[in-house]
Amino acid sequence: MEDIIADPPAAETLFDPATAFGNKGPFELEIGCGKGGFILRRALDNPEMRLLGIEWSNKYFKHAADRMARRGADNVRIMRTDARHFVIHHLPVECLSALHIYHPDPWPKKRHHRRRLFQTDFIDAAIRALIPGARWAIQTDHAEYFEWITDLMEQTEGIERTEYDDPKFGIVEASAQTNFEIKYREEGRTIYSLAYRKLK
Ligand SMILES: C[S@@+](CC[C@H](N)C(=O)[O-])C[C@H]1O[C@@H](n2cnc3c(N)ncnc32)[C@H](O)[C@@H]1O
Repeated sequence: MEDIIADPPAAETLFDPATAFGNKGPFELEIGCGKGGFILRRALDNPEMRLLGIEWSNKYFKHAADRMARRGADNVRIMRTDARHFVIHHLPVECLSALHIYHPDPWPKKRHHRRRLFQTDFIDAAIRALIPGARWAIQTDHAEYFEWITDLMEQTEGIERTEYDDPKFGIVEASAQTNFEIKYREEGRTIYSLAYRKLK
């Protein structure tokens, strides 16, 4: 279990994937990994990869870390921190092969919109952290937040829209099969998705 948990970097320090995992393998990040359903499957299907899941909720963080340990997913690290702060202040330039964000909290009330993860500074920092050619997949069940995200992403330079479906990145038949997605599909909710690639 201790091997799975990654401590948030100290102030003014960059996260070092080589220290957290060792040197080899594509490095991917999932923000708001929740109970860890997606990251676990990705890790077990791709043992050569290094996968970091960031989760703010202590309950989900513990659940996900415990689940990875029980399933022997030793290519996963779970970190409890604010992903927005982590991406802006602690993620090195051009380190990520893929970024996954599935069902980010929508903060539907207008006065709470500033709490949304997707803001220009966050998007710019995330794109800085992608390797040229790397992929960013996003999925939500919230129509208005989807519009907000799409508008911001479409205004961003240095990326191009790409197919959401891509089994190489864990998306099969337009589905990431996260815990929330499974629940929402059962309830008959519409799922919205989009993906981008960083230009080379
Ligand atoms: C709606 S849940 C989705 C969980 C998972 N991605 C899924 O689809 O099943 C959103 C998750 O993001 C986490 N979260 C929200 N804001 C966060 C932040 N700033 N940093 C890290 N995690 C965050 C929440 O604690 C919650 O577990």
